[in-house]
Amino acid sequence: MTAAPAMERSEGTDALAPLASALFAELRRLGGDGVGITRDSYGPGEDAAIAHVAEVARAEGIEVGFDAARNLVLSLPGEAPGPYVLCGSHLDSVPQGGNYDGAAGVVAGLLCLVAMRRAGVRPPRPVRVIGLRGEESAWFGKAYMGSSALFGLLTPDDLAAAHRRSGRSLGECMRDCGAAVDRIAAGERLLDPAEVAAYLELHIEQGPVMVARDLRTAVVTGIRGNIRHKRIVCRGEAGHSGAVPRWLRRDAVFAVAELLSRLDEHWRALLERGLDLVVTCGIIATNPDEHAISRIPGEVGFSFEVRSQSRDTLEAFYHLMRTECAGIAAQRKVEFAFDRRVDSPPARMDEAWVRRLVDLSGRLGLPTETVPSGAGHDAAVFANAGIPSAMVFVRNDNGSHNPREAMEMADFMAATGLLYRALLEPA
Ligand code: GLV
Ligand code: MN
Ligand code: MN
Repeated sequence: MTAAPAMERSEGTDALAPLASALFAELRRLGGDGVGITRDSYGPGEDAAIAHVAEVARAEGIEVGFDAARNLVLSLPGEAPGPYVLCGSHLDSVPQGGNYDGAAGVVAGLLCLVAMRRAGVRPPRPVRVIGLRGEESAWFGKAYMGSSALFGLLTPDDLAAAHRRSGRSLGECMRDCGAAVDRIAAGERLLDPAEVAAYLELHIEQGPVMVARDLRTAVVTGIRGNIRHKRIVCRGEAGHSGAVPRWLRRDAVFAVAELLSRLDEHWRALLERGLDLVVTCGIIATNPDEHAISRIPGEVGFSFEVRSQSRDTLEAFYHLMRTECAGIAAQRKVEFAFDRRVDSPPARMDEAWVRRLVDLSGRLGLPTETVPSGAGHDAAVFANAGIPSAMVFVRNDNGSHNPREAMEMADFMAATGLLYRALLEPA
């Protein structure tokens, strides 16, 4: 193989559009659940996606391995020692999600290796592609599991978290997939950040901004963090809906409704002050075994999530939520019980990499805009571990975490071409 003459090589990935389409089609078939795509974290859905990507990589002469958290790791054969650029994304999905959230970044990384291999090009720094497991919080109430495991960041509580369907613990599910759970539980660092020169992740945009602004690709500046509770329970008192007057009721639904409308008002006011903030109650339910039109609800379970680019804003809003719960509990004679609080800190992308990607975008005739990421990504974990990290977003219609994700293949190939150039340009 020869050293890379940097800029004449974008056609390397352009020619791989049919391979990309075939990969996405097979991933769609494997993950199809009749409604959307389901690739459960540290479970069979994710395993199937990993096995397929590995099979295609092997057929292309790419080396296939796994790290101690059982993430898929791909590299060119005969890779030189020394710090490498790691690029990739995750291969799990939310239940009934879309085909591109996560998978796009792994497919893009694989295409870059295939293009290098087919053209006999060696990048200036070795490149490894990672197919991460367990990015989605939807399965265990904890995000970034495969990447956090690499840095000894999974706590005993994380490993005890129960799978939303089977109830089995994350630790058990990781062990079933072949991860070194004892080392992970001991908080061992499985990846030395000094080995990784940079982490690059291509991902679909999951909001409506790039479609609205007609941006095929964009470079990400930072990633929102979040604070979550998977389940808060508001307990009041069940009763006959006709027989109990308002002043004697302890209605859990009205209490939670008041809480949410107070939070919505705080949110609106904080946005007016220019803060970055989104607030979501994605799960809310009375108990179907006992609820009835004619019964005052004695109990409601709900989730809480606040996201922001700012740690201070996250903390302040979380505190506000707890204060409002205490006030409503006193006024309405209900109680709020909280499961464990789960934090994912915000992260800034590496400024030098952002500049480099913006510059390369300009040279490739792609948009030179930067955007913040509202959604969470493993890149935040790598960045917070001290590894210079950067992300390229691809335009995607209809949002994400739903079956209607719609990324144009031409946009994806343009973003992959940008990634390929970035890997071939000496940093
Ligand atoms: C990742 O999918 C997130 O929830 O932001
Ligand atoms: Mn997602
Ligand atoms: Mn994702």
